[in-house]
Amino acid sequence: MKNTILSAKGLCKSFAHNGGQLHILSHIDFELYEGDFTVIMGASGSGKSTLLYALSGMDRATAGQVLYNGEDLVTMKEKALAKLRHTDFGFIFQQMYLVSNLSLFENIAVSGYLNKERTASEVRQRTGQLLEQMGLTHIKTHLPSQVSGGEQQRCAIARAVVNTPKLLFADEPTGALNRKNTTDVLNLLTGLNHSGQSILMVTHDLRAALRATRILYIEDGKIIGELPLPPYSPNEEQSRETQVNAWLASMKW
Ligand SMILES: Nc1ncnc2c1ncn2[C@@H]1O[C@H](COP(=O)(O)OP(=O)(O)OP(=O)(O)O)[C@@H](O)[C@H]1O
Ligand SMILES: [Mg+2]
Repeated sequence: MKNTILSAKGLCKSFAHNGGQLHILSHIDFELYEGDFTVIMGASGSGKSTLLYALSGMDRATAGQVLYNGEDLVTMKEKALAKLRHTDFGFIFQQMYLVSNLSLFENIAVSGYLNKERTASEVRQRTGQLLEQMGLTHIKTHLPSQVSGGEQQRCAIARAVVNTPKLLFADEPTGALNRKNTTDVLNLLTGLNHSGQSILMVTHDLRAALRATRILYIEDGKIIGELPLPPYSPNEEQSRETQVNAWLASMKW
């Protein structure tokens, strides 16, 4: 029996547009489980990013609840929400948003310094470990512009997990990467998940979706399907791909 880490109840999101309302998410109910690598798929414009932002407190739902640790992110005060995002959540995006005039080491460490739970020397030690884990130690003093896109994304992953988040959110983390870098980033995310990291990732990429332990499919602002999967293992990638492809076809992907 898995523990629920985050749940949405009657989640709705609308945007004011041209004097009217655009209803993007309508009455979404679901639970995210601890230790899962949950992936959200769906057509472009179906509301995947909107859902990720509403669940992670980066944006607020228009109606309904997002419950985390007994608190509702929808009604939480902005200051408390900002703190929660920093201490409990990690974020990875398609664009890495690294600070251009800080080295890779500093990009990761700064996020740790801002979280007052570790001393500066503990943060430096953890940053060093993460650089090692991401294969970036030899270029830790480089600026983001002096490293490849894959190296930048690995740095962004290290930054996202420096505070040991309870939940890691990723929106198309491989969207800007070539095949080799995509594999590296997916292997790192899979490794984090196998060590217990809970992940919620939005992706268009079938290869990324294969890493999931659970895939949710969204259409017209509703979750219309769900596919549970065993933990990823490269040995059975072929049969997994066949299974996921057949399921996606049944969702009319
Ligand atoms: N701030 C906004 N104001 C108005 N409409 C918005 C806003 N943000 C998103 N939308 C609309 O909401 C819908 C869902 O957008 P969202 O970015 O969640 O889609 P997505 O599934 O992530 O698509 P993609 O796969 O292309 O990234 C789109 O039609 C988009 O135009
Ligand atoms: Mg999106």
